[in-house]
Amino acid sequence: MEVIVMDNAFEISKAVSSIIIDEVKKNPKAVLGFATGASPVETYKRMIEAYKDGKVSFKDVTTFNLDEYCGLEREDENSYFYFMKDNLFGKTDVDFEKVNFLSGDEAQSEKNCREYEEKIAAAGGIDIQLLGIGTNGHIGFNEPSESFSDGPFKVKLTQSTIDSNSKYFKDKKMPGYALTMGIGDIMRAKKIILIATGESKANAVFKMVKGEVTPSCPASVLQNHGDAVIYLDKESAKLL
Ligand code: GLP
Repeated sequence: MEVIVMDNAFEISKAVSSIIIDEVKKNPKAVLGFATGASPVETYKRMIEAYKDGKVSFKDVTTFNLDEYCGLEREDENSYFYFMKDNLFGKTDVDFEKVNFLSGDEAQSEKNCREYEEKIAAAGGIDIQLLGIGTNGHIGFNEPSESFSDGPFKVKLTQSTIDSNSKYFKDKKMPGYALTMGIGDIMRAKKIILIATGESKANAVFKMVKGEVTPSCPASVLQNHGDAVIYLDKESAKLL
């Protein structure tokens, strides 16, 4: 695990977007794993700028997103699909035929999880997986638990996640369940980039980087990945 501390979120977004853009230039059919939440938004802005400046095309990339809330339609503006459309896909030439998402349809969740794992494998695995981190150390929606998960699964969200994410739901109650890629799916990515900014992440960042590798802090598993790079601002790195 490599840890890089930068001055602010803007500097991080420049560094992370160039890694992704360089990968896509080298391999236009790259398989990219994306995350939602506030952490990657600046990076997505830099990617949109590069696309609009004609520096890169995303038309042949395949994408997999980490997670989705149960019970939300794609068109629901609280869904992660909508978030990605609004913050990246719809503002670039990403081909929606190559966009993969865990579905919010609860009745189909087991089937969806199985098929998602098969699709990741059929795409040849994920080249770069982008991650944020929850204040409780979660990655994707892998909440603290007693063992590390492997493939995608349905998860009951913890109160800490509900407290952190409820602010994004203006017109309805936040769902209590989500589907998420498992820790195994994330760890099989060839390269992992995690972004954390702000003081509220300092404790989780400390446990991820300096703590023991334990499912009670799911992000700590990244210590065991051969190519995981953690981008921090000064506030999130303040306990290191
Ligand atoms: C959510 C997402 C995670 C994300 C985390 C941090 O729970 N499921 O993938 O990393 O929140 O979000 P933020 O970047 O908004 O702090």
